[in-house]
Amino acid sequence: MKPMSVVALTAAATVLLAGAAVAAGQSGASPESAATPSRANPDASPIYGVTLPEGYRNWQLVAPALEGEPLNELRTVVGNKIAIDAYKRGELPFPDGAVLVKLAWKYTQSPEFKSALVPGHATTVQVMVKDSKKYAASGGWGYGRFIDGKPADLAQHQTCFACHASLVKNRDYVFTRLAP
Ligand code: HEC
Repeated sequence: MKPMSVVALTAAATVLLAGAAVAAGQSGASPESAATPSRANPDASPIYGVTLPEGYRNWQLVAPALEGEPLNELRTVVGNKIAIDAYKRGELPFPDGAVLVKLAWKYTQSPEFKSALVPGHATTVQVMVKDSKKYAASGGWGYGRFIDGKPADLAQHQTCFACHASLVKNRDYVFTRLAP
C-alpha cells in the first residue's frame, strides 16, 4: 500500500466530506450513542458502520497477494457468494450484497523449508460491503479495517475510499482480480 500514500493524502479531503455525509446520514442516533455519533456499535467501523461478516473464513478464494517492504505481508482476498458469482460473470459494478474480505499476515520463513514464506501473526482483516444506496457517498462500498477483531480508528477509515477511488474507480473500486 505504501506507494499510494501521497495520492491518498491529496484525496483525503474528498473522503472527509464523503465520510461526514455518511456519518450524518446515520446520526439519527439513540441518546446513549451521542458520545460517538458515527458509531453506536463498538464492533462496527467508524464512518461506515461495517462489522466483520460471519463465516468469512469459509468463503471462496478470490486471489492471494504478496506485499513487499516495509509491510512484508501475505494477503488473501475472499468473497461471499454474491461477490464470487459476480467475479465469475465478470460483472461490474458488483451487485448489492457483495462482500469482500482481505486477510493479512506478516510473513515468516517456514521452519522446515528455507525458501518458503508462510503466514506469521495476523495483522488486519479488511472488509468491503456493497450497498449502493447506503454507501452512495463512497462509491457504493462501506469499508472496515479490523485488528484483533476490533475496528481501527477513524483516521484509518478516512484513507480507504481515497486510495481505492484514485486507483481503481473504473473497476468498481476493487483492486483484486479473480486469480486464474
Ligand atoms: C494506499 C492505498 C490503499 C488504502 C489507503 C486502502 N487500501 Fe484497500 N487495497 C489496496 C490495494 C493495493 C489492494 C489490493 C490487494 C493488496 O495488494 O493487498 C486493496 C485491497 C482491499 C480489499 C480487497 C478488495 C480489493 O479492492 O482488492 C479490501 C476489502 C480493502 N482493500 C479494504 C480497505 C479498507 C477497509 C481500507 C481502509 C481502512 C483500505 N482498504 C485502504 C490499497 C489501499
